[in-house]
Amino acid sequence: MSLPSASPAQAAPGPSFTNPVVNVPNSADPTLVFHGGFYYYVATTWSSDVVMRRSTTVAGLRNAPEQVVFRTAGTAMWAPHLEMIGDRWYLYYSVEQSGGPRRTHALESAGTDPLGPYTDRGIIHLMPDNGWAIDASPLRLNGALYMTYSAFSPQDGLQSLYIAPLSNPWTAGAHGTRISAPTLAWERQDGAVNEGSFALQRNGRTFLTYSASHCNGPHYKLGMLEYSGGDPLATASWAKSPQPIFQRNDAAGVFGPGHHSFFTSPDGSETWIAYHANSSASQGCGTTRTTRVQKISWNADGTPNLGTPVSTSTVLQGPSGEAGAAPAPVALRNRHSGLCLDDYDWATTPGAEVRQWTCNGAAVQNWTLTPTENGYYRIRNGHSGLCLDNKDFATAPGSVVQQWTCNGATVQQWRPVPVGEGYSTLVNRHSGLCLDNYNWGTAPGAEVRQWTCNNNNAQRWSIT
Ligand code: AHR
Repeated sequence: MSLPSASPAQAAPGPSFTNPVVNVPNSADPTLVFHGGFYYYVATTWSSDVVMRRSTTVAGLRNAPEQVVFRTAGTAMWAPHLEMIGDRWYLYYSVEQSGGPRRTHALESAGTDPLGPYTDRGIIHLMPDNGWAIDASPLRLNGALYMTYSAFSPQDGLQSLYIAPLSNPWTAGAHGTRISAPTLAWERQDGAVNEGSFALQRNGRTFLTYSASHCNGPHYKLGMLEYSGGDPLATASWAKSPQPIFQRNDAAGVFGPGHHSFFTSPDGSETWIAYHANSSASQGCGTTRTTRVQKISWNADGTPNLGTPVSTSTVLQGPSGEAGAAPAPVALRNRHSGLCLDDYDWATTPGAEVRQWTCNGAAVQNWTLTPTENGYYRIRNGHSGLCLDNKDFATAPGSVVQQWTCNGATVQQWRPVPVGEGYSTLVNRHSGLCLDNYNWGTAPGAEVRQWTCNNNNAQRWSIT
């Protein structure tokens, strides 16, 4: 693979496309994840099967073959959510089952391949009396794991958003508590509903976005809660935006946009939304809903800006860093120090130091992430053109991190592991150690080493 020139690679988008990226019938309630050089796509199938598509580009999803990854024991499989937790993939979905209400089930992958095989981890007992529960979507917060989902309130019968603690990725530590009910007028059109929650986390802030109003009409839309601190299980810990954040665009012929997920571009520099929508105001929750994707942005106040749903005639450039396209630069900022990973003293020779410095957007703090395989990335400096490298193939805590001529070796491969609130740890493929703000430095010039992964703030990096 020829390396880009020493100057910072100019970001190049992936192949252009128009929406829908996946057509009926299995195209509602999409989850799209990029991992190891491929996008993996799952959606509602209405059958007993969980099926998955895989493509190196968004544009390629439309014709990517469906692969059955699991045959459930129920019927009308809804809203599968695909997520890596630790080093396993989990699929959460709901099905009707004989003799009881629709329940949420969990599958666990045997290894690190999203295509499986999967082990059935059974029903997650989220509501009392084996109650109805759908649209399960995990949330990492304050170092703990939770499940957000939709269920009918025993108090007022409203289909609301709930959150339950998880003792492991498939076991609820307690029944959930309600954190949002469809009380605002824009949440009650065609039917009062809150469902399809999906966490979006960035720079330590947690937004829980969700679908509101009933999917059987054009008013289905997205709303947003923000975590304000305190016990995540407490309603008071979540503040609801008074207005919707994404809704119908009649001029563009887009109706009932909702039940979404978010994904990151292959180079980590962009956030995108995948959602379903109808092309007519008269369509509803059936098999007319198709999957669309578009890039989101961020407001000056740090909240997400989802924009408006684009028409099916709008040509969009693919996500940055797709299929060999030059990746866009990102900054790697340490959660404890608030400093950025930096090519110290603007060095350019192999063996150059890597330190932390006040974030300034200079080329020495521009890093590009290029997928290698299996969720690992090459991390290359925009000034030196050298790669982040585990010096001398070390394996001991405290080992030195340097820059070295990019050579694709495992010492230059790092896996971002999301740990919630918009942060990830960066695990070296050779040492298994994490990129670490050594000795908890906070002054510019603070050292960076490798240390046993312990998920503390010295090992948490935002990639933005
Ligand atoms: O599409 C099936 C169900 O309809 C989804 O689980 C829910 O979010 C929507 O209302």
